[in-house]
Amino acid sequence: MRAVLVGPPGAGKGTQAQILASELSIPKVSTGDIFRANVSGGTELGKQAKAYMDRGDLVPDEVTNAMVRDRLGQEDAQGGFLLDGFPRNVAQAETLNKILDDMGERLDAVLELQVDEEEVVKRLSGRRSCRNCGHVQHVLYDPPKREGVCDVCGGELFQRDDDQEETIRHRLQVYREQTAPLVSFYEGGGLLVSIQATGAVEDVTARAKEALRAKD
Ligand code: AP5
Ligand code: ZN
Repeated sequence: MRAVLVGPPGAGKGTQAQILASELSIPKVSTGDIFRANVSGGTELGKQAKAYMDRGDLVPDEVTNAMVRDRLGQEDAQGGFLLDGFPRNVAQAETLNKILDDMGERLDAVLELQVDEEEVVKRLSGRRSCRNCGHVQHVLYDPPKREGVCDVCGGELFQRDDDQEETIRHRLQVYREQTAPLVSFYEGGGLLVSIQATGAVEDVTARAKEALRAKD
């Protein structure tokens, strides 16, 4: 399956993509994760992306598109993939179509995760990510068994730089202006399925699987 997850920051795209990709045995391709790995590794790509990410703005399309083309060209993505955080505007969606055309493939589904903005702010201001394995928890909704310590690997949990309330509000504005138009873009192509992304993580996963099955 070749699918895209779309939804506002904090909708649970990363959480769901991790579970779904593992159950479907396809790689999760998260542009946010790739950028963050490059920022912490101090690469040229990371240097180009950092200031945009800290402000909550989109990294320029030419940088992002080239990175995604390269990632989807790798061996493990040939049998399918789950994109998390890409595309994020109509120009990126058009680039994705071109990349897939060149591979002789097409998209099967676009899954929209719907959550209201106040819930997003609560989720992101309490989010903690593991520095070692990338696992994501929440101080109230999925509290670590030991404060500041990842339940999965025992690594250190930290708060992302872009999870300050002011930056979260800006990311939401960027979502409304640049990313939300993708919903009608994909609706027009018959690829869109939308689900409510509130409630327990397992319930959202069950809804997501049912919605994706309908498109497979
Ligand atoms: P990115 O990393 O993609 O951030 P985002 O889209 O803002 O999404 P988040 O990672 O914040 O949230 P999520 O939906 O994955 O939620 P999560 O599962 O963690 O992008 C970061 C930056 O990189 C961008 O601002 C931009 O600068 C750059 N970038 C990335 N892609 C780009 C692109 N294509 N073009 C240009 N620039 C790009 O969940 C959030 C919290 O809620 C967690 O604490 C979790 O435990 C909790 N939670 C999850 N599900 C539930 C639930 N059901 N109930 C209660 N809590 C829950
Ligand atoms: Zn960990």
